[in-house]
Amino acid sequence: MSPGRTYLMCPPEHFAVEYVINPWMSSGEPVNRDRARRQWQALHDTYLDLGHRVDLIDPLPGLPDMVFAANGGTVIGGRVLGARFRHPERAAEGPAYLDWFRRRGYPVVHEPACVNEGEGDIIFAGTAILAGHGFRTDPSVRAELAAVFGLPVIPVRLVDPRYYHLDTALCVLGGGVAAYYPAAFDDAARTALASHFTELIEAKQTDAEVLGLNAVSDGRHVVLPAEADHLATQIAAAGFEPVPVDLSEFRKAGGGPKCCTLELRHADGTGE
Ligand code: ARG
Repeated sequence: MSPGRTYLMCPPEHFAVEYVINPWMSSGEPVNRDRARRQWQALHDTYLDLGHRVDLIDPLPGLPDMVFAANGGTVIGGRVLGARFRHPERAAEGPAYLDWFRRRGYPVVHEPACVNEGEGDIIFAGTAILAGHGFRTDPSVRAELAAVFGLPVIPVRLVDPRYYHLDTALCVLGGGVAAYYPAAFDDAARTALASHFTELIEAKQTDAEVLGLNAVSDGRHVVLPAEADHLATQIAAAGFEPVPVDLSEFRKAGGGPKCCTLELRHADGTGE
């Protein structure tokens, strides 16, 4: 049995592509609002069916990317490091999420000093925290992470603008296993990842290109974009259960299931 997780999601009321801050957003393809709402709802219901709990934050008008809750902060052991966005278009999301955590009574809510885009770039990997940099999060977040969570931090540099957040190129599955797209990282990052994980699944380019690595694992089930079919086979071969979902509307903004999901790791803690 995988323990029930708690996730934070933001309804896609105001979701749209209204500016371009990553290469996915420049296609010019308009978002189909109804389809986006249905896809988001199906993701939400998938978590409930898997036995997880989903908390919601109110979406704010004028913040079309707020639906990407993963960027709203980092929560480990009930402690919160708030987010601070690189681009002015998303800046107001930082305080909105911080406010949610404060109102919910989280005991430690740390205001971020440097730019960090939450779980987009900061990934809890059991005994350490991976911190992606190169496009969004400032590498100096390392000191803040160590101070707030008391865990070792492994910085990893991203080198391909299509994989602008760490969670677009790497997913921790659990039990020392992760899946990643090697070409998105520099040599030093690949070496660091190889020494942290006991098994690293290498995703093919075709799976990376549908944002297949933007997946959410509960340690047993792995919710991932339906188009990433080869990755699903690799994940199943490693002993996990792939759960495909269609989030094609969100890919127009550079997002997938993980981007829409922030894990709230409480003090009584679930694992990796
Ligand atoms: N359009 C958003 C941006 O570029 C997408 C964010 C995706 N979130 C993520 N966790 N990768 O900021």
